Amino acid sequence: MGEVKIPDAGGNSITLVEVDGHFFPRIPNEENPIDVIKGIRDITIREDDVFVCAYPKCGTHWVWEMARLLLSEDTDTVINKEKFMIEFLRNDVLEKMPSPRILNTHCLVEQLPRGVFEKKCKIIYILRNPKDMAVSFFHHHTKLIPCYEYHGKWENYLPLLMDGKVDYGSFYTYLKDWAAIGQTHPDVPILTLVYEDLKEDPLAGIRKLAKFLNAEKSEEFYLKVKQLTSFNKMKENKGKFYAAEDGSPVMYRKGEVGDWKNYFTVAQNEAFDRLYKENMAGCDINFRYSSK
Ligand code: A3P
Repeated sequence: MGEVKIPDAGGNSITLVEVDGHFFPRIPNEENPIDVIKGIRDITIREDDVFVCAYPKCGTHWVWEMARLLLSEDTDTVINKEKFMIEFLRNDVLEKMPSPRILNTHCLVEQLPRGVFEKKCKIIYILRNPKDMAVSFFHHHTKLIPCYEYHGKWENYLPLLMDGKVDYGSFYTYLKDWAAIGQTHPDVPILTLVYEDLKEDPLAGIRKLAKFLNAEKSEEFYLKVKQLTSFNKMKENKGKFYAAEDGSPVMYRKGEVGDWKNYFTVAQNEAFDRLYKENMAGCDINFRYSSK
């Protein structure tokens, strides 16, 4: 329990926090991170809390911002979604937030606050093809030096990710855990959005989200949401919240479908496909790996 350094095959290591056998990001200067993580299950939940859930790098910032705009109609304020991540928030801080709270997390289903299931809160779940996720997570880990202290190379990083030796653990476990939510928690309202679909037709995604949140608006407002949540606009408005040492925004990098082709060698791609098939047997998710 506590801070751990996970070595890769090239002699570099990722610094993380381990709590009860699960890895979380290490946020420098965070007060009592272990207590906060241990307290997640007991967070006081309100019926109108909304949860945006995804494995890291699958579009959480994007969808969180869509949900925030739809529910608040506040198109002027620029807010950092990290301030609403339950794994970094003490209950007393959360309790001071006005409703409806739009929270977000990369936790597994069973790590969510108990109240989410008791109160049947709305959950928006995001999927993204795991090859683009992998490339995005590599940049995340190598750019956020104060958190991860990681200077590894792609070829040594990829095996670590496929082995679940990163914050939030194995993406296979995550995908299977969330794919089973219909069986494990059949009465929780959940909307699944797919990153590649949102890229293809953001307006359709925004309309679906508005309906799910009971926050239907005019077409004009949906267009405004589309504009304000475009990759370039979000990068311009929010890129400053998490910048790498070279000043580049970590959370708004490329925002494309298929960037993995610029990173995966043929051998890495074959190994990835083989391991994916082995680990995801019995769990069919049809990911799209290229833009149409
Ligand atoms: P890339 O690194 O491939 O560019 P998360 O928000 O879960 O951390 O995911 C981050 C990924 O979503 C990054 O992917 C980021 O660029 C992309 N992203 C963020 N905002 C986006 C937007 N408005 N439109 C499309 N992609 C976006």
